[in-house]
Amino acid sequence: MDFPQVFSDGESYIFVLFDQFACTAMQFFVDTADLDEIREANDMGVLDGVTTNPSLVKDEGNVDFHEHVFKICEIVDGDVSAEVTATDFDGMMEEAHQLHQIHGNVVVKIPLIKDGIKALRALDEEGIETNCTLCFSPTQALLAAKAGADYISPFLGRIDDISSDGMGLIEEIVQIYDNYAFDTDILAASIRHPTHVKRAALAGADVATMPFETLLNLLDHPLTDRGLERFLDDWQDYKEARKAEAGLA
Ligand code: G3P
Repeated sequence: MDFPQVFSDGESYIFVLFDQFACTAMQFFVDTADLDEIREANDMGVLDGVTTNPSLVKDEGNVDFHEHVFKICEIVDGDVSAEVTATDFDGMMEEAHQLHQIHGNVVVKIPLIKDGIKALRALDEEGIETNCTLCFSPTQALLAAKAGADYISPFLGRIDDISSDGMGLIEEIVQIYDNYAFDTDILAASIRHPTHVKRAALAGADVATMPFETLLNLLDHPLTDRGLERFLDDWQDYKEARKAEAGLA
């Protein structure tokens, strides 16, 4: 095991912590069940995982749910959330076991209801990874963390949609989890635009899951486009001038 290194700069001591305690970068997940989008996002080299939900699976039309989840897991080397649709404890556990069997990347998504909390606890004891979904309040997030959820998914866009403060919820959960050193990862969900991603990162969310289009929108800046156009024009002028000089020589 490595130990922290200690350096002296002459006036004070500087501690370099273990790697495992260092901050990891915010993870980017795509919130989609569209295989083409997942492949394209994965090809960008910045994709850490995928979240799906029953509505996103419905958008894919006539696909077999379990086969589809397997295909997603084969594309992405990271966590892939797949949701149970039962609302009672036994039903959720049965579906969770089936989903867990599909692939090692599967994280079972459990709704934030009473039997869901019970299922989170039971699945944690079995070592099955979970993502607790449909979180809209800090106390729901506290319950999920106490039950052993691996991820909590606060839906910030849907909170904003009803003129409330989605980002405030993320900030409160960050504070509560820090207060008690919960290791549940905060997965900012229902993201609608790059500002949501920026503010979730500033608040310290561990993961942002976003539609593929929003991932692409993170690239957008008119000054980047204008700057690139000018560089390419100037490069063309430079090459033509060189060619002309070579012709004269
Ligand atoms: O996957 C859960 C969440 O991200 C849903 O987002 O856009 O349907 O509110 P949205």
